[in-house]
Amino acid sequence: MIDKDALRVLSDAGLADRIITFEEVTSTNDVAKNLVREGYRGTALITAELQTAGRGRLGRSWSSPAGTGIWMSYLVSGIEAERDASGIKGFGNISLYTLITGLATAESLREYSSEKGTELPCLIKWPNDIVVRGRKICGILTEFISDSGIGSLIIGIGINTGQESFPDELSVKGTSYFLETGYRPEREKIIEKIIRKIMQADRASDLSGIGHLIRPEIDIDRYCSLMVNLNKEVVLTSSNGDFPDNPYIARGITEQGDLVVEDRYGKRLKVTSGEVSVRGVLGYT
Ligand code: BTN
Repeated sequence: MIDKDALRVLSDAGLADRIITFEEVTSTNDVAKNLVREGYRGTALITAELQTAGRGRLGRSWSSPAGTGIWMSYLVSGIEAERDASGIKGFGNISLYTLITGLATAESLREYSSEKGTELPCLIKWPNDIVVRGRKICGILTEFISDSGIGSLIIGIGINTGQESFPDELSVKGTSYFLETGYRPEREKIIEKIIRKIMQADRASDLSGIGHLIRPEIDIDRYCSLMVNLNKEVVLTSSNGDFPDNPYIARGITEQGDLVVEDRYGKRLKVTSGEVSVRGVLGYT
């Protein structure tokens, strides 16, 4: 079981007003949503040993077997909308948190494993899959809900830490910390690193309580240095099927977190993460 006491450093640092650890839930993102619906405002970290209905991006499910991963959600609730004379303008660039979390997670996993004297060469597949040697070790699902000008951001992170093998459909594509390094990590240490790094990317000074604005910023150079597809061919797909010039070459990201790709005529275009999926020409990466 994840040790709640070991996570208290996050509360002491003002980064988690509440820490809730479960043995079993449907989905930690759903627990976070329910907290918001019940009127909770502030930051919260929710973890579970097992998720019975873990959710992934684009409506997919997320396999979350007992004790084999970090299945967690970080909630920032009580974000105030930006307003002008005509009313609510929006909540700032919420979708940037998806990329910020990908970068924070890749760097945290690398850092932790090097502290242990091992190497875990995590790379990012835009927007936020973390891959090691071409296999996925982590997925991130950020969700945002708003009501009457108050927003709540839910950052769901799933990291495979302890699996010794994967079921058929995931065996080609999935990997775990254990499979890559030969030992199981202290999950609490990785969680702490990730949350500290996510919150360092916000220029707002205080995210506790209610009524704060958010000001996320991505370090483009650091992100691009870890992109698995940088300057490589990628195939873009979306539910609208509107990418006639596949394959493109991935050239980087913008300050807003869009992917910049180049078509075969040298023309560049920006792709927004929402419903788009990216693959390498030969498969997953
Ligand atoms: C993806 O790669 O499609 C995203 C996977 C996100 C999984 C995590 S596990 C914790 C949180 N709870 C969920 O139901 N999903 C996220």
